[in-house]
Amino acid sequence: MLILTKTAGVFFKPSKRKVYEFLRSFNFHPGTLFLHKIVLGIETSCDDTAAAVVDETGNVLGEAIHSQTEVHLKTGGIVPPVAQQLHRENIQRIVQEALSASRISSSDLSAIATTIKPGLALSLGVGLSFSLQLVGQLKKPFIPIHHMEAHALTIRLTNKVEFPFLVLLISGGHCLLALVQGVSDFLLLGKSLDIAPGDMLDKVARRLSLIKHPECSTMSGGKAIEHLAKQGNRFHFDIKPPLHRAKNCDFSFTGLQHVTDKIIMKKEKEEGIEKGQILSSAADIAATVQHTMACHLVKRTHRAILFCKQRDLLPQNNAVLVASGGVASNFYIRKALEILTNATQCTLLCPPPRLCTDNGIMIA
Ligand code: KG4
Ligand code: ZN
Repeated sequence: MLILTKTAGVFFKPSKRKVYEFLRSFNFHPGTLFLHKIVLGIETSCDDTAAAVVDETGNVLGEAIHSQTEVHLKTGGIVPPVAQQLHRENIQRIVQEALSASRISSSDLSAIATTIKPGLALSLGVGLSFSLQLVGQLKKPFIPIHHMEAHALTIRLTNKVEFPFLVLLISGGHCLLALVQGVSDFLLLGKSLDIAPGDMLDKVARRLSLIKHPECSTMSGGKAIEHLAKQGNRFHFDIKPPLHRAKNCDFSFTGLQHVTDKIIMKKEKEEGIEKGQILSSAADIAATVQHTMACHLVKRTHRAILFCKQRDLLPQNNAVLVASGGVASNFYIRKALEILTNATQCTLLCPPPRLCTDNGIMIA
């Protein structure tokens, strides 16, 4: 419909040659001109209400997002009923904003795609019931989306990546290494045995009271740690990476969190300050945690690369490692992974940071 409106001026004086020239100048092919499928994607699995309109060639036509980070920072973590309420308050507006930005009317959509798992049940429920209502009203097909598959495949929007490739998904709720063999064909190689890396960073940031730090007060825990770590010395404390003897590709972050807690307690005593005040060594602690986490992620990913190459699951040269999820927007971790991929003749690809954290584009 929209394309018809845009081209209406051309059809006013119908000369076949001119019409074809005009269409070619826009890279349109007459046979497929009116067949562009347009999908609305809706994401509410955790603490972001997000929507986007994307066409079948990967063009982002419109996007909108409402982040709940500031609210959850104040309550010291995500409270599911609060997240649910905020999703309810914002979903209609966010979907409308994404549609308005795309200049697509809802009747021109080809389908509605929505995250159905994994995530917080109360948050997922808001997106799902909103989408199903819309699907019923508009009589459009519904596409259920697996949140982690969406994170894993986002890279195909920005880079030409052939299957198979290795993916490291690191976020606030998940940590996994998988071989991606097709759009929904994943071989799981390793996962976190306890909490996710983003969850660990959020807990450390909370314990360090970084919300009271003037430079970090509105940042997510992970972003605050990355920001502060730039001013710190990672050699100030010595923490061994977890699971360094385990002969698999699994991860663990609880131990790292506990060791860090102990360091913080010791420093509070030394500096004579109460829990809840900012330590003068907060930046050194942030740098040490970030570095230890990066070492752990790199070591486990190295094992996965060797495993896949030994079994010819990945090409020997130029195999691709994709890192995605909120924690993969961290540039220190990206740099560490790049050292690994250079040493193993692989290529590291990461979506731009705004596509690493939760968004509607990856769902659409
Ligand atoms: O993928 P995401 O937006 O939501 C989930 O699916 O969990 O990831 C959010 C997580 C949070 O734990 C946040 O602290 C972390 O990603 N994060 C970061 C950075 N930005 C966000 N962690 C490390 N460095 C960052 N720059
Ligand atoms: Zn996510």
